[in-house]
Amino acid sequence: MKADVLLGLQWGDEGKGKIVDVLTPHYDIIARFQGGPNAGHTLEFDGKKHVLHTIPSGIFHEEVINIIGNGVVIDPVIFSKELDNLSAYNIDFNKRLLISKKAHLIIPTHRLLDQASEESKGKNKIGSTLKGIGPTYMDKTGRNGLRVGDIFLDNFKNKYDVLVEKHLGILKHYPSFSYDLKQLEEPFFRAIEVMKKMTCIDSEIFVNQQLKEGKKVLAEGAQGTMLDIDFGSYPFVTSSNTITAGTCTGLGIPPNKIGKVIGIFKAYCTRVGSGPFPTEQENEIGEKIRQEGNEFGATTGRKRRCGWLDLPALKYAIMINGVTELCMMKADVLSIFDEIKVCTHYLINGEKNEYIPFEAFDNKIEPVYLTLPCWRKDLTQLNEFENAPLELKEYVSFLEKHLELPIHILSVGPDRKQTLALSEKKVNN
Ligand code: GDP
Ligand code: IMO
Ligand code: MG
Repeated sequence: MKADVLLGLQWGDEGKGKIVDVLTPHYDIIARFQGGPNAGHTLEFDGKKHVLHTIPSGIFHEEVINIIGNGVVIDPVIFSKELDNLSAYNIDFNKRLLISKKAHLIIPTHRLLDQASEESKGKNKIGSTLKGIGPTYMDKTGRNGLRVGDIFLDNFKNKYDVLVEKHLGILKHYPSFSYDLKQLEEPFFRAIEVMKKMTCIDSEIFVNQQLKEGKKVLAEGAQGTMLDIDFGSYPFVTSSNTITAGTCTGLGIPPNKIGKVIGIFKAYCTRVGSGPFPTEQENEIGEKIRQEGNEFGATTGRKRRCGWLDLPALKYAIMINGVTELCMMKADVLSIFDEIKVCTHYLINGEKNEYIPFEAFDNKIEPVYLTLPCWRKDLTQLNEFENAPLELKEYVSFLEKHLELPIHILSVGPDRKQTLALSEKKVNN
């Protein structure tokens, strides 16, 4: 069997959590491969809303195994809170949630370093979620990190102390930054005890054995392609590879064992944090999208910046990820407009660009828009694509043609049930 991948094609928050939850009944295993508690994946069903940060979005389905892969960074404190939040569901975590021993740990001083670094950058800050992601991945690549497997070793505390000592040395370079480490360490070590009771394994061996036995695996991305450390709008990115290739390194799945790549995007764009956003609407339009789409961060509560759909960025993301099918979210939010705009290309120094180039990440970029009629109808009760307003059908066809890929799923509201499957025939309409 090959593993399928679902990942974000924009700047994160595309609705990955919702769709992973919707697709989980088709899979045996759901696995996160990168990122950490900077992610906030929202699921809604039975009138309840859940936000997951570290735990994969398949956790609400019985019989399905969820894996936190080696590419993920875990904050034990946030992780144990997530477990507490799920206590009402009587989930057998020991059987259904497996953690890679090779996943790296976010320790309290990683969070302090993140904060100190952001504060020192002033206006140029990344807009990090301040969860310690950057410093933890730095220690991973710098070969200083602590891993989940280390918590079972007798010398764990010693290894921890050595790393903290190093961090305290770096923090001295931020003399105006004050902190109380003791206060953060107490919940940290309590959470380490919680983690010790979990099932921690060599998940790359497990995943490959399961694939060999014909089990179906879905890898769940976090963040989005435009936040990828290599291909995103550097330096305003996260610190991991959010793209399909990240599945290989973050779970140990070989490239020739990747099956479908499901690329997910909103019918418009959002971004939280700093950095270039060519189609941003810092005006009444952006504000309307934010209110209608409830565009506030699931992890930090920050206002998300909003703008029109950006096809050059989307095409770039499709290319990098080898996307095989698409999933369009939040079409219902655009119902408030008479007309919608789509950026079809950019002008950079007068030259037409159909993909997002290096130069696009400074300010000389001019998005060129196509204006399309909107549907002006409530979509949240729509249960068959057949019954969709003509303008929405045309919007879907337009995108499929331009992106040269089929849209297989259309989401018209936050609930699990507000999800339409589209037939493959339509692509060539
Ligand atoms: P993720 O990080 O990709 O999982 O996305 P988030 O959970 O951070 O953000 C997506 C937000 O949009 C959440 O509040 C979802 O409940 C909500 N949502 C998902 N799909 C739809 C949709 O089709 N329509 C509307 N109106 N909201 C949606
Ligand atoms: P999900 O998985 C949206 C953004 C931050 C910041 C930059 C770096 O919910 O889509 P970091 O904390 O990684 O150092 O922040 O990346 N960012 C996200 N934006 N959704 C996310 O995750 C994000 N995770 C990080 O806002 O701009
Ligand atoms: Mg999110």
